[in-house]
Amino acid sequence: MENLVKFIEKLPKAELHLHIEGSFEPELMFRIAERNNIPLKFTSVESLRAAYHFTQLQDFLDLYYAGTSVLIYEKDFYDLTWDYLIQARANNIVHTEIMFDPQAHTARGVSFETVISGISRALKDGEEKLGISSVLIMSFLRHLSEAEAFKTLEESLPYREMITAVGLDSSERGNPPAKFMRVFAKAREYGFLAVAHAGEEGPPENIWGALDLLHVSRIDHGNSSLLDDDLAAMLVASQIPLTVCPLSNYRLKVVQDLSNHPLKAMLDLGLRVTVNSDDPAYFGGYLNDNYIAVAEALSLTKDEIIQLAKNSFLASFLSDSSREKYLHILNDFHLSNL
Ligand code: HPA
Ligand code: ZN
Repeated sequence: MENLVKFIEKLPKAELHLHIEGSFEPELMFRIAERNNIPLKFTSVESLRAAYHFTQLQDFLDLYYAGTSVLIYEKDFYDLTWDYLIQARANNIVHTEIMFDPQAHTARGVSFETVISGISRALKDGEEKLGISSVLIMSFLRHLSEAEAFKTLEESLPYREMITAVGLDSSERGNPPAKFMRVFAKAREYGFLAVAHAGEEGPPENIWGALDLLHVSRIDHGNSSLLDDDLAAMLVASQIPLTVCPLSNYRLKVVQDLSNHPLKAMLDLGLRVTVNSDDPAYFGGYLNDNYIAVAEALSLTKDEIIQLAKNSFLASFLSDSSREKYLHILNDFHLSNL
């Protein structure tokens, strides 16, 4: 097993499902709260971490939004993003596609410009100083209204060139894809690509909805895909990727045990499935921890782990030439680690 851990640690990979606000470690949260003079409900890093016990998605979301409340200035968003990029380098992530939730900040009076400037400046430094390429995905909060999503879309337009895709996250139950059909259509008119969380806590119908109504290029989570044979067959035929997040699924009780995780069955079926960390500060691990946990729980082979890394580049929004470059690097890694 130690051999496999080293193999995973050295493996070059892309991360495609990461909420930057979900990489907010308690230590940084307390530091920023202090310098911004904002009280937190918890008295220490330890007591905050001790509260990270969730029985469903909403339990986590309540703490996640509370945590964002200390982020006020451009530098706060820079520091948040930079800390993730340092972790990304330690995890051998060479390319990352980062989601951010502008409405979690604009609803508190922080400007869209402040949020995106801090994040983008860190991403630029990440490329220049750490050699990590990146794209940004702007997610709409699905528990808020269609009108609020439209407002956010309009606010993003001055920064159109900095954002590759729109996404959809937050509470899946009661907020199906149809609610955002018109916003996504408008976003696609503006040239954004699209992704959406679907089938995390929701049924396969939400995955159909994300595909047919929102025209997404990939599905975030997609755990319930295998409950519908026609859907699974369509996903295999189209090679529409799933960005699966094993430790998130375990911590939010989407799966009761990692040994029951559908990832292995998805790989066996030929789905373009990827492994990601979702909200690593809350779910007990960054990308390597996710790879290691599923490799152990599902007895994955080295070839299957390589396939997951390969899928991460194939499913990315990289240009064809960059994708080829990374696939070559991965192939060389494979040959020298047989
Ligand atoms: N699901 C839905 N919304 C989210 C998540 C998630 O896993 N993480 C951050 N927002
Ligand atoms: Zn997510």
